[in-house]
Amino acid sequence: MLRTHTCGELNIKNIGETIKLSGWIQKSRDLGGMTFIDIRDRYGITQLVFNMETNSGLCGKARKLGREFVISVSGKVKERSNKNKKIPTGEIEIIVEKFDILNKSKIPPFTIEDETDGGEELRMKYRYLDLRRNPVRKNLELRHKMALEVRKYLDSQKFIEIETPVLIKSTPEGARDFVVPSRMNPGQFYALPQSPQTFKQLLMIGGYDRYYQIVKCFRDEDLRADRQPEFTQIDCEMAFVEQNDVLNTFEKMIKHLFKVVKNIELDDFIRISYNTAMKFYGSDKPDIRFDMKFVELNDVTQGKGFKVFDDAELVVGINASECADYSRKQLDKLTDFVRKPQVGANGLIYVKYNLDGTFKSSVDKFFNEGDLKKWAEKFDAKPGDLLLILAGEKEKTQKALCELRLEMGNKLDLRDTNKFCPLWITDFPLLEWNEESKRYHAMHHPFTSPKKEDIDMLSTDPGNVRANAYDIVINGIEIGGGSIRIHDRELQKEMFTALGFTEEEAQAQFGFLMNAFEYGAPPHGGIAFGFDRLVALFGGSDSIRDYIAFPKNNAGRDVMIDSPSTISAEQLKELKLKITE
Ligand code: AMO
Repeated sequence: MLRTHTCGELNIKNIGETIKLSGWIQKSRDLGGMTFIDIRDRYGITQLVFNMETNSGLCGKARKLGREFVISVSGKVKERSNKNKKIPTGEIEIIVEKFDILNKSKIPPFTIEDETDGGEELRMKYRYLDLRRNPVRKNLELRHKMALEVRKYLDSQKFIEIETPVLIKSTPEGARDFVVPSRMNPGQFYALPQSPQTFKQLLMIGGYDRYYQIVKCFRDEDLRADRQPEFTQIDCEMAFVEQNDVLNTFEKMIKHLFKVVKNIELDDFIRISYNTAMKFYGSDKPDIRFDMKFVELNDVTQGKGFKVFDDAELVVGINASECADYSRKQLDKLTDFVRKPQVGANGLIYVKYNLDGTFKSSVDKFFNEGDLKKWAEKFDAKPGDLLLILAGEKEKTQKALCELRLEMGNKLDLRDTNKFCPLWITDFPLLEWNEESKRYHAMHHPFTSPKKEDIDMLSTDPGNVRANAYDIVINGIEIGGGSIRIHDRELQKEMFTALGFTEEEAQAQFGFLMNAFEYGAPPHGGIAFGFDRLVALFGGSDSIRDYIAFPKNNAGRDVMIDSPSTISAEQLKELKLKITE
């Protein structure tokens, strides 16, 4: 063995012992008579001491060691005179008697410290060096711990982990597929799974009534901080269940994770419908760490001659508590914010409910004190509050006010990363109209069942059919989503018709599933969690990249291995592929 201990474990109890450590050189300090070197491995850092007086040869050699050299040292554990209480090994040091260089290192392109001087691209290119840094290591350890606890919990609930194939055929989860050409079947392609959706349903038909898998999924979509082209799901499915059974089972899993990983006891998660979420937060992933619910004002604002309100489908606002002292400049900034193209409002109307009980608004010309007082009552506002109001087309206005609400939440420090507020969103619409393709798309996926009482509307009023679908949202992040599935061939056929598939198309793409429904498919449903997002949430970061060992950049590239890349003419020929420009 090249070590008797790790660099994070020796302490006062080991004094006098002869030990052997191996690791990387973090830094070295040369103080004339003495040289101190910090040696690092995954477990910590230990201080090595070389004494010029007692062993000048060894000390001289040690002085030549560079950062990130890999060494193996033997020596004695000694109590330190100058103790460092911040690290577990800070009370001891090693008087080195012998060392070997196991490998040299070039000077690393950035410092391997908690606060590094390396930019993102550089660290990605040399990810193996970045991985040596404490913060990255801690993130991956957190990920490991969470995966382990997920497995423990699901195992205790009789779920079994089953692997499903990666070379499959397209599953429509709403993104584009990554495809893989088949050499043995020229002109034909596999698709990488956007999720194991159809396979987990087939497992239910196969009788494995509780399945899970921590599994890679692939989606060719625009990337953001919370999206990677390949990401990991905790994918789950259960047979003989109704919606509540699924929600209860997985609410317990999330509570278990919070308890064992963060020692946080969560209250029962609130459950609200999609319509309620849109009405009060303008979003199907509301951040409920703070209240600031929307208040609709059509009835008290319209018909007074103010065209912006009169022409609006929706007049809606929020109460920014204790912000009536906002200056002109601050209000102008908020107006600029709502006018940004990503937010999309035309303007912002404000009402200050002054501390002296008077009102000052940007629409004083059209509304008197009595009107404004009525508005304030709707908001339950008190003197000192600031009402921020938007008006326009319903969905656009809700979306814009949602952005403004989050912005105010940030400004007022209401989005504490140490606070966790989960909720379930239920009763999603089954279908959403797509203007581009001029047809309905499945809001979740085409295997989601409509609510029993809405099935009749599938052919008459598809846009208003509600689904047995649910999302779990924590702190404004969509952590997971699922549904109770269709398990009846006829209903599945009807669903494909509503989605604009011809019978032949449906049969060609999903015949395997519809056929399987004819052999005793049990009622079933499930959920998938975005594992990377869940870990990032636990770790307190917005970026899932920090929790993935080898992530891709925003252009979908792995800059370390330089992928994607071209392939040789020979490979192309073998695959019978031609690049056309
Ligand atoms: P859905 O498409 O909602 O459902 O995905 C489930 C969860 O996966 C996460 N997620 C992602 N995370 C990182 N990068 C991405 N590109 C990405 N895309 C999605 C989200 C999301 O909530 N088969 C269904 C599940 C089911 O019905 O059981 C599905 O995949 O956190």
